[in-house]
Amino acid sequence: MVDRNAVYPVPETIAKTAHLNQADYQTLYRRSIEDPEGFWAEQADRFIDWYRPWDRVMDWDFHEPRIRWFEGAELNVSHNCLDRHLETRGDKTAIIWEGDEPGETRTLSYRELHTAVCRLANGLRMRGVRRGDRVCIYMPMVPEAAVAMLACTRIGAIHSVVFGGFSPNALRDRIQDADCKLVITADEGIRGGKRIPLKANTDAALKDCPGVETVVVYRRTEAEVEWVTDRDIDYHELVAQADDECPPESMGAEDPLFILYTSGSTGKPKGVLHTTGGYILQAAMTHHYVFDYHEDDIYWCTADVGWVTGHSYIVYGPLANGATTVMFEGVPNYPDASRHWEMVDRHGITIYYTAPTAIRALMRAGDEPVKKTRRDSLRILGTVGEPINPEAWNWYHQVVGESRCPVMDTWWQTETGGIMITPLPGATDLKPGSATLPFFGVQPALMDADGRELEGEAAGNLVIKASWPGQMRTVYGDHERFAQTYFSAYPGCYFTGDGARRDSDGYYWITGRVDDVLNVSGHRLGTAEVESALVLHSTVAEAAVVGFPHDVKGQGIYAYVSLMSGKTPDPALKQELIDLVRKEIGPIATPDVIQWAAGLPKTRSGKIMRRILRKIAANELDSLGDTSTLADPAVVDELIDQRIEPK
Ligand code: WTA
Repeated sequence: MVDRNAVYPVPETIAKTAHLNQADYQTLYRRSIEDPEGFWAEQADRFIDWYRPWDRVMDWDFHEPRIRWFEGAELNVSHNCLDRHLETRGDKTAIIWEGDEPGETRTLSYRELHTAVCRLANGLRMRGVRRGDRVCIYMPMVPEAAVAMLACTRIGAIHSVVFGGFSPNALRDRIQDADCKLVITADEGIRGGKRIPLKANTDAALKDCPGVETVVVYRRTEAEVEWVTDRDIDYHELVAQADDECPPESMGAEDPLFILYTSGSTGKPKGVLHTTGGYILQAAMTHHYVFDYHEDDIYWCTADVGWVTGHSYIVYGPLANGATTVMFEGVPNYPDASRHWEMVDRHGITIYYTAPTAIRALMRAGDEPVKKTRRDSLRILGTVGEPINPEAWNWYHQVVGESRCPVMDTWWQTETGGIMITPLPGATDLKPGSATLPFFGVQPALMDADGRELEGEAAGNLVIKASWPGQMRTVYGDHERFAQTYFSAYPGCYFTGDGARRDSDGYYWITGRVDDVLNVSGHRLGTAEVESALVLHSTVAEAAVVGFPHDVKGQGIYAYVSLMSGKTPDPALKQELIDLVRKEIGPIATPDVIQWAAGLPKTRSGKIMRRILRKIAANELDSLGDTSTLADPAVVDELIDQRIEPK
C-alpha cells in the first residue's frame, strides 16, 4: 500500500555533499523575491560568461506584456556551452551517445564537440545563413542534433527543432510559420528497431515551402533517399569543406535564441520564442541546483531534443555547466524493459531524469528487469512532463533508486524555459506526487474562478506573479496571441493553464491542465488540433476530442465523430480517420477511441459541452452534472449507450 502522507527527508549521503541545505534554500529564496535585481545579477555573473555586462537586470510588465532581462548585455550561447570549457575540460566527455541497438556508443569530448559545431556553423554560413535567420532541425536523437542547435547559436541563427515523430504536414506548418530558410535532417531515424523516413517526410513537407533554399542531410542509416540537386547537401560533405574555426557572434541578451512549437487550446501550434541571456542562465542554474550537479556526475535526461526538456536539460543546461550529458536514440522497452537500467550501469549514470509515462510503462514490466541490474551509480532521480501518481513515485523511489535516491518532481513548461516548482536534493523533504516548492525567483499563486488570489491551503488555477529570466518573450509573429493566451485570464499574472493545490506546508500539487490541452505520454496536444485533423475528412460533419485517464499514457485520446447526413460509419472509415490524424499531426496524436455520435451535447447557443464528453469518456456517469441547459439532453443518453471502453 502506498502511504499518501509519507514524507521523505533528505538522505544523509545526499546532505553531506549537497550544494544547498534547507536553510540555504530559504535564505536564497527570500533574497530572490525581496531583491530580484541583486539576486539575478549575482547568478548571472556566476553561471554565465558575458562579453559585455547589462545595463539593467530586468524590465518587465505583465500588463503590456513586455519581458526583458539583462538588456544591453552581450554573450554567445555556444561560447558558454563549449569554448569557455576548453581550457579546463577540453578532454572531458561532453556527450555520451548510445544508439538504438544496445552497446552502440559514441563519445564526443568538449574539444571534439567544439570543432564539430564550428565546422557546421561555417557550413551554414556558406549556405547563406545569417544572424536572425531561422533554421529548422528535424533530426533523430544523434549528437549531430545537438551540434546543429549549437551551430545555429554560434552564428546567431534561430533554430526551430521539430520532433522527429511529427508528420510531413506538421513539419510543413512549422517551417512555414517560422519562414525557415534551411532544414537540417537525416536520411532516417531509428527508434525501437523501426525506421523513420525523415528525409522523405522533409521532401513531402517542402513541396509547400518555397522559402527553404538548403536541406542538409545527415547520414544515419545510409538509406537511399531522393535528392534535389542544388537544394540538398550531404552533412559530411558540407562540414568537410568548412573551416574548423568560427568565432562566435556577440549576441544581445534579448536576441532570439530559438523557437519551439507547442500546443495550446486553439488549432494552430504556437511558436514559443526564447531569447539568449535569460534562457541560458535559467537552464544552467536550474540544472546545477535541481540535480545538485557536481563535476564528475554522469547525467542522463531521457527526453527527445524535439521537446523543451531536451533543449534545456540534454543540451543547454548541462553543456553550459560543463557536464557529461547522455543522449539516447532509442526507447525504454527496446530490446526489453531492462534497457534504461543497463545503460545506467554501462555508463555509470549518477543523475537520471525521465517522464512519469516511462516510469509507469516500466513499472508494468515488474521489478525483475530492474533488479537484475546494479544501478549503484545512481544518486538523484527526476521526473517531468505530467503529474506523477504516488504509486509510480514509490516504485521509482523504492525499486529503481532503492530508497537511496531522492526524486525531483519538476514542474515547468515549454513557456517557462526551465524548471519552476521543484524540490532540491539537499534542501527539500519529499512528498510523493508533489512538485513541492518554487525555485528561486518563482512566485506561484493560486486563483479562484473570479480572479481572486487564494491564501494558505487551497486549490485553484496556477499563475506566476513575477517574471523570471527563462520566460518566453512572445509567440513568434503573434504578440497579441501571447498577450491573450497567458496574460488575459488574470491581468498582471502569467497564467500557466494548470490547476494546482497547495497544502499546509506550502507544497504545490499540480493537478493537470485546466484548458483544452491534453498530455498524452508527456506530449502536449491540443484537442482542437486533433479535431481540425478529423474534420478534414469529407464525411465528417463535426468532431469533439477529449482526454481520459490512461494507466500508462497519463491521458488517452477519445474522439466523438458525427458524420454528414447520409453517411454510414464503418471500420474502414475509422481507419481512414486514424490515418488522417497521423498524417496531419503524427503517431503521438492517434486517437485511442473513435465513437460515432449522431449528435454532440450542445448548449442552446451551440457550444459543445466538453465537461459531459469528458465524463462519458472516463466512464464517470454518476457525475455528469447538470444537463438541463443542453439544447437536446437526449443526445447524452445515446452517447452513453454507445460508449466504447478504451483498451
Ligand atoms: C505538465 C514540459 C505535473 C503541465 C516540461 C504543464 C507537469 C505541461 C509536470 C507542460 C510535473 C510538466 N507535474 N504536471 N512535474 N511537468 N507538467 O510544455 O500540465 O511539454 O503545463 O513542458 O506539462 O508541458 P510542456
